[in-house]
Amino acid sequence: MYAIVISNRWLHRTPWVRCGPASGTLIALSASALPSLAAAGTTRKVPKVGAQTVSLVTGGAGFIGSHLVERLLALGHRVRVVDNLSTGSERNLAAVLRDIEFLRGDLRDPATCRDAVAGVETVFHVAALPSVPRSLEDPWTSHDCNVNATLRLLIACAAARVRRVVYSSSSSTYGDTPALPKMEAAEPLPRSPYAAAKLAGEQYVLAFARAGRFEGMALRYFNVFGPRQDPHSPYAAVIPAFLAAAYEGRPAVVHGDGRQTRDFTYVANVVDANVLAAETAASGTVANVGAGQQTSLLTLLAMISKIAGRSVEYTCSAPRAGDVRDSVASLERASSVLGYRPSVTLKEGLKRTWAWFANTQRPHAASRAAVSVPV
Ligand SMILES: NC(=O)c1ccc[n+]([C@@H]2O[C@H](COP(=O)([O-])OP(=O)(O)OC[C@H]3O[C@@H](n4cnc5c(N)ncnc54)[C@H](O)[C@@H]3O)[C@@H](O)[C@H]2O)c1
Repeated sequence: MYAIVISNRWLHRTPWVRCGPASGTLIALSASALPSLAAAGTTRKVPKVGAQTVSLVTGGAGFIGSHLVERLLALGHRVRVVDNLSTGSERNLAAVLRDIEFLRGDLRDPATCRDAVAGVETVFHVAALPSVPRSLEDPWTSHDCNVNATLRLLIACAAARVRRVVYSSSSSTYGDTPALPKMEAAEPLPRSPYAAAKLAGEQYVLAFARAGRFEGMALRYFNVFGPRQDPHSPYAAVIPAFLAAAYEGRPAVVHGDGRQTRDFTYVANVVDANVLAAETAASGTVANVGAGQQTSLLTLLAMISKIAGRSVEYTCSAPRAGDVRDSVASLERASSVLGYRPSVTLKEGLKRTWAWFANTQRPHAASRAAVSVPV
């Protein structure tokens, strides 16, 4: 038998806490019992909960976080999610809600951080307020959610004796470095508040790790795509935006001339890297997570046209401030430190994402009949 340790505050203030049949017995301890539990521990790990330990996924209701949650459950982890649902949604967790603990809360709040990390062995810090353009419109909220919230969380992790933190960083931290592929040793040259904030968050994780507060690794993701990525947000990423255009039979909007390049990375590859980063002996270091393949937006559009079975027209608009011209990851360090290699190709990832897209998006009267889903 095992127990989940949660505080009174969590029980009283969380809108809902679920514990599925697979989750064992739920035992609530008073908030005052928690510090003594932590203080009593003489090993680095918080008390183990039966045979399994608890993994926390911050931002687990978001696009990448929800995929990570599913994988961790499949690997037999006990999973807790903390999310304020600002850009994420409970819908993303619909299939697993009964098997996780969900804490709706904001990581800018120290008490939420403390409750979220209680009894946790590994923290996957995925939560962030993404988007370069959003951060240029509202730099303060970007900083608050991406830096202040991260520091709050890390302080709580150190106090709770969390073993390891795996941080979701971003290739945007590189900026427009001329040398390709982008290597971790390059000087970071962020071009937006979002990129600067992701760099700051990453460096806090690494600094805490080097100071011995916990083990920590940062993973710099390159243009992640896959099912559940929102195509209708004003800050939608390019692949869901192009897929929506293909699905709805309208021209795609290309910012710039379309010849800029990206390293599009299927979400399952990013999840692989997180799982590896949780287990590696390496600490205090950063590694790229990409596909290692450089693709222009026009090539991407041609691939999507082929998969959708229709030619997708496009219109060009002004380049976006803060965007970089070219990007592709060096995977040398990820390979040597983590044993990471991308297992799903861009083409296969696009096929899977298109299949999801065509199955889940609201039917569009004008174009539904013409959409083909490759098998
Ligand atoms: N999607 C990409 O291409 C990409 C590329 C590089 C890095 N990243 C990083 O990966 C992570 C996940 O990105 P995503 O694309 O899944 O974004 P997402 O918006 O789908 O997920 C982020 C989640 O964090 C939650 N969140 C935001 N602020 C919070 C706060 N203060 N407290 C609690 N929860 C909060 C949101 O509600 C959301 O569920 C982010 O850290 C992002 O910076 C993503």
